[in-house]
Amino acid sequence: MKNIDQAKAAREKAYAPYSNYRVGAALELNNGEFVHGANIENASFGLSNCAERSAIYSAYSQGYKKNDFKSLTIIANHKKPVSPCGACRQVMYELLPEGCEIILANIKGDQIKFSKEELLPYGFNFEEINIESS
Ligand code: THU
Repeated sequence: MKNIDQAKAAREKAYAPYSNYRVGAALELNNGEFVHGANIENASFGLSNCAERSAIYSAYSQGYKKNDFKSLTIIANHKKPVSPCGACRQVMYELLPEGCEIILANIKGDQIKFSKEELLPYGFNFEEINIESS
C-alpha cells in the first residue's frame, strides 16, 4: 500500500467525536513498514492528541529511532492539504531525521511536500541551550 493509502487507513482509526475532523498519519520506516497514527480526542478538549504526534510517539514507543524514519504522510478532509499545528511542527522538528519527507495531503488528492525545517524555521533545539549553574 502506498503512503496516501496508508494515511487513509490510519485516518479510519481516528477518535474525533468532538470536532468530527478525522486525521490520519502514516510514518514510513526505512524497512518498508508503516506506523499509523490518528487524532485521539477527549471530552477535556485540550488533552486531544494530533494524528502526526500519535504516529511519532507510537513509533518511538515501539522502539524505533529517528534514523528509522523515511517519510510522514498526513491526511484529512481539508480544502487544501492539511496543515500541522505548531506543537506538531516542533515535535516533528526534534523527532524526525533530516531529509525525512513530510507529505501533507487531503482526501480529494491534493499533496504538498515539505522538510521539517520548512515547516518550522528556527525551531527550538535543546543542543543550543546554554545551561547556567545556579
Ligand atoms: N489535528 C490533527 O490531528 N492533525 C493536524 O495536523 C491538525 C489537527 C486534529 C486535532 C483535533 O483532534 C482535530 O484535528 C481538530 O483540530
